[in-house]
Amino acid sequence: MEVERVQAISKLSMSINTIPYEFIRSENEQPAITTVHGEILEVPTIDLNDPDEEKLVSLIAKAGSEWGLFQIVNHGIPSEVINNLQKVGKEFFELPQEEKEVYAKPQGSKTVEGYGTQLQRELEGKKGWVDHLFHRIWPPSVINDRFWPMKPPSYREANEQYTIYLRKVADKLFKWLSLGLGLEEDAMKAAIGGDDLEYLLKINYYPPCPLPDLVLGVVAHTDMSTLTLLVPNEVPGLQVSRDGQWYDVKYIPNALIVHISDQIEIFSNGKYKAVLHRSTVNKDTTRMSWPVFLEPPSDQVIGPHPKLTGNGTLAKYKSKKYGEYVYCKLNKIPQ
Ligand code: OGA
Ligand code: NI
Repeated sequence: MEVERVQAISKLSMSINTIPYEFIRSENEQPAITTVHGEILEVPTIDLNDPDEEKLVSLIAKAGSEWGLFQIVNHGIPSEVINNLQKVGKEFFELPQEEKEVYAKPQGSKTVEGYGTQLQRELEGKKGWVDHLFHRIWPPSVINDRFWPMKPPSYREANEQYTIYLRKVADKLFKWLSLGLGLEEDAMKAAIGGDDLEYLLKINYYPPCPLPDLVLGVVAHTDMSTLTLLVPNEVPGLQVSRDGQWYDVKYIPNALIVHISDQIEIFSNGKYKAVLHRSTVNKDTTRMSWPVFLEPPSDQVIGPHPKLTGNGTLAKYKSKKYGEYVYCKLNKIPQ
């Protein structure tokens, strides 16, 4: 079966200046009428170079509990490494269609890995204006070469370099988020899988859309994993929900966008909030983003940390294996 990629739909849509009906959102989702404009309220930006570690811990803890999302600057990943990651990803998506299809997610495959377009339609039968490529980047034991593009030739090197630096950032964030809960610095990382934590890279490719006010890229959701560390390109589009309203996340060159995801909300017994977010698309430019989902191994059991419950504080979440959590979420079964 031939799958229609949004990249191809975009080309046709741009020439006839209209889009297929299944991409048009109902009014309560359309970005133009559901986004707060001209608000001063802004997602926190945190400078990781601050020598005052206590201050950093409290800024991160506050951002994690009030927004569930923050940007980090001076994170230690050289801009050249980020630029290369972006360059090779863009080059992959600009390959002729048949060269990308070599990496297509096989039909009926159990893993998310591969090049693709969301096949399963959402409630109301709507589709997102986005194509993607998924593959794991760490640890080496879970890497599946089959889904790493051979073109451009520097794809592998650029992704490996990024992974080296990204792991250091992730470890610092787990430490500070743990301290922010009053726990030992290694408590969080140990509980979510320690060195077995899996790094799943996704590249989102949002081609131009003649009617961007009526569509969404990725529909409102929280990420399932622990943390998501995202590099965007210069085209804004990520939005976060706070107090029932949608806000644009401003583009800061070289910043990384940190999302608190479901497993950290659970581990923290609700002190940190998994951020509800979505993405919008652009009229004449392509937006791209590179989120990395930090996923516990499938049989890792995650629940509220024992020190955060007891003494009259109830556990607000069940403890369960990450794999079961994912199964329930994807199949819309209550957790
Ligand atoms: C996602 C996501 C947002 C973005 O892929 O899970 O939320 O900015 N992407 O592309
Ligand atoms: Ni997301």
